[in-house]
Amino acid sequence: MKVLMVCLGNICRSPMADGLMRKKVQEHGLDVVVDSAGTGDWHVGDAPDPRMIETAKRNGVPIDDLRGRQFKVADFDEFDRIVVMDKSNFANVTKLARDEKDVQKVELFLNLTHPGKDLEVPDPYFGGDEGFQDVFDMLDAGTDVLLKELKN
Ligand code: 4NP
Repeated sequence: MKVLMVCLGNICRSPMADGLMRKKVQEHGLDVVVDSAGTGDWHVGDAPDPRMIETAKRNGVPIDDLRGRQFKVADFDEFDRIVVMDKSNFANVTKLARDEKDVQKVELFLNLTHPGKDLEVPDPYFGGDEGFQDVFDMLDAGTDVLLKELKN
């Protein structure tokens, strides 16, 4: 099983989801590969946003070794589940889908904790520091659900 977390810049939301999921998968000894990507290319090769790194560290989930990369069509072949943070990510990823099978791999992250509600993980990039903890909490809860699904 391979899971890809996707957001816009790949420096805030998706690397945090990636780091949380990697940690949980490792702790539970699951054979699951986790990665993340952004639909945009501004932060390719960059470390996560310092505010996200700090929040991650404070919560015991280091992500400073992750580096940004852009989502690519080949990711549809590589990954079984492509979990996106908001509706614009969903639109940008599915725009690159080659067929219905590709589209079916894409899901909104918050549907893990709020099935069928199509809610969005807010982008903390332009907001205040407190937004990063809120995002962390959402990603922590969602990755718990994803872990449970993958254990079954
Ligand atoms: P992310 O946040 O999608 O959660 O990584 C963003 C980071 C950077 C930019 C936008 C969103 N940006 O425009 O550079």
